[in-house]
Amino acid sequence: MEVIRAISELKASRAGWQRPVGLVPTMGYLHEGHTALVRRARAEAATVVVTIFVNPTQFGPTEDFGRYPRAFERDLALLESEGADVVFAPAPSEMYPEGFSSWVDVEKVTSRFEGVVRPGHFRGVATVCNKLFNIADADRAYFGQKDAQQGAVIRKMVSDLNMNLDIVVVPTVREADGLAMSSRNCYLNPRERSAAVVLFSALNAARELHRGGCRDAIRITGRMREILSREDLAQVDYAALVDPDSFEELQSLERPALAVVAVRIGSTRLIDNMSLQN
Ligand code: PAJ
Repeated sequence: MEVIRAISELKASRAGWQRPVGLVPTMGYLHEGHTALVRRARAEAATVVVTIFVNPTQFGPTEDFGRYPRAFERDLALLESEGADVVFAPAPSEMYPEGFSSWVDVEKVTSRFEGVVRPGHFRGVATVCNKLFNIADADRAYFGQKDAQQGAVIRKMVSDLNMNLDIVVVPTVREADGLAMSSRNCYLNPRERSAAVVLFSALNAARELHRGGCRDAIRITGRMREILSREDLAQVDYAALVDPDSFEELQSLERPALAVVAVRIGSTRLIDNMSLQN
């Protein structure tokens, strides 16, 4: 496994890569959710490139960029054991040299939910992903269903800008009690960790109602909010039913919908989602 820090070095290495090239963008502190993406890439691509880059431009001024967890050596060992071919781990100055001034702004889908709570977040995500796609010259890039709105933003960017790669979305990997794996789960103290399962409980209740034939969006979101409100430590940012591509809120559920939740538990913000299929 090659570990590369410089873009020039990556481009030199790229000349010898077998295609298709599968890219897995991450911010490191890897867990089984990330591993699932790497495994899927390993199964489908001849060359698997994993990027580890805590991207400063997608963090707001009051967010956790400075304290975002890092475990580089452990990540490398894990990726080696998963059979990754290349790890690209640039410094911020490599990705954003002085004078950097070009941004990708995906409209509409970013104006809702995460885009409202985290202004500028998706601009940072879209820009860095665009750069990583170009740097790796990837044929496919792998994203987790866990960050569904991020996936929708990336798909829209790739489609609108005619980018030559396929986006593959991999199902959410969960802890035994249902909590979606996340690098941020390590911020939770034991009391908060047990409270965090409430996101999964609320989403499950939405799915149960939907499976039972309920198509009333107000009733389903009401039920999600009721469950979330029973947990004293949980402060709800949103609980809604949305179109999986546009993230427009749905009133009627005659087509596939996504139940989405964002909750603050103490100082940790958690998001999760579940698809409701007809
Ligand atoms: P990060 O949070 O490290 O996540 C990297 C990828 O892993 C994302 O596609 C995310 O959706 C996926 N992932 C995280 N938890 C998962 C889980 N429990 N199950 C399945 N997939 C999961 O998302 C980012 O980094 C950044 O925004 C990035 C795309 C790298 C751009 O900086």
